Amino acid sequence: MITFMSVLKYEQAKVNAALEKELASMPGPLREIAAHVLLAGGKRLRPLMTLASARLFGAEGPELYGLAVIPEMIHVATLLHDDVLDGADSRRGRQAAHLRYDVPRAILAGDALLAAASHKTASFGRPELLACVSESVLMTASGEAHEIALQHSLTHSMGEYLDIVSGKTGWLIKGSCRLGALYAGASQEQVEAISEYGLNLGIAFQMVDDALDFADEAVTGKPTGGDLTEGKFTPPIMKYLDFLPRCDREAFCAKFREGSFTPEDRARVSSDIRRLGFDAEARALAGEYLDRAERSLEGLPQRFEQKLFREALDFVRNRRS
Ligand code: IPE
Ligand code: IPE
Ligand code: MG
Ligand code: MG
Ligand code: MG
Repeated sequence: MITFMSVLKYEQAKVNAALEKELASMPGPLREIAAHVLLAGGKRLRPLMTLASARLFGAEGPELYGLAVIPEMIHVATLLHDDVLDGADSRRGRQAAHLRYDVPRAILAGDALLAAASHKTASFGRPELLACVSESVLMTASGEAHEIALQHSLTHSMGEYLDIVSGKTGWLIKGSCRLGALYAGASQEQVEAISEYGLNLGIAFQMVDDALDFADEAVTGKPTGGDLTEGKFTPPIMKYLDFLPRCDREAFCAKFREGSFTPEDRARVSSDIRRLGFDAEARALAGEYLDRAERSLEGLPQRFEQKLFREALDFVRNRRS
């Protein structure tokens, strides 16, 4: 039986080959740094969304891989930048690039990947594709900046959280879906429907990421409890704070504001969050956005890719890494 996982695995190999080609044409000094993250695995979810969307609306052929690498190059650029912004020490199971190399070169490698992605998009000679890609990059940066403005705050609302996750993660997954549809020449209504699907899938994807932040680094390839030190007021942390008895709350809030959790604190709070099921509750919240995403698929062509988009909902719901 052809499943989402088998298609993801199959396409990963083809996308990786196309990414290696793009990497080869990057300037020498930055190529190795970009490769450190680009070739370290990664699910390649965004390229799959582009491929599936293009095919859902009738496009086909090997040149689709040249399109599908674009959102992954942008994604990797944002990971390079994100690990600098977050002071994170690991990524995709490897030492983060800004530690393996240095901060200036990690930033420049991210910039180079963004430029290479724009260059690649421009090569299609279609302004609407470039507009789609640029808007995704712009909104991702805006979401990251909004998050930084509220870093170490314990008082902001769910509305602010939603705005942050829509920007920093939703927009690029939306853009990945939209890019495929635009390329295929889908109707305006279809483009908007698949964009709406991508945005809600992306919001859910980030909510699950925020639940997975408390999982084992050996499984996620990222630091366990990093969001505590980074001062990200995510749903599992909101729930944990509500649960804490008044006598413990002030000490927790002080450490959150200062970013002064010790590694032992991080391990203990992460294990408490898992034991109390606050990570699972955050996944349940993601379910609401997955339902919205599913509704956007109604009325789209009844092709194999529609089934793939439906299976992607469960992939995001249940993912462990
Ligand atoms: C990590 O994205 C960054 C977020 C938006 C949460 P992924 O979980 O897709 O990372 P890779 O590409 O598989 O490493
Ligand atoms: C992901 O946010 C957003 C981007 C990479 C733009 P996180 O900071 O939660 O991502 P991870 O957990 O480091 O992958
Ligand atoms: Mg991060
Ligand atoms: Mg971040
Ligand atoms: Mg995270």
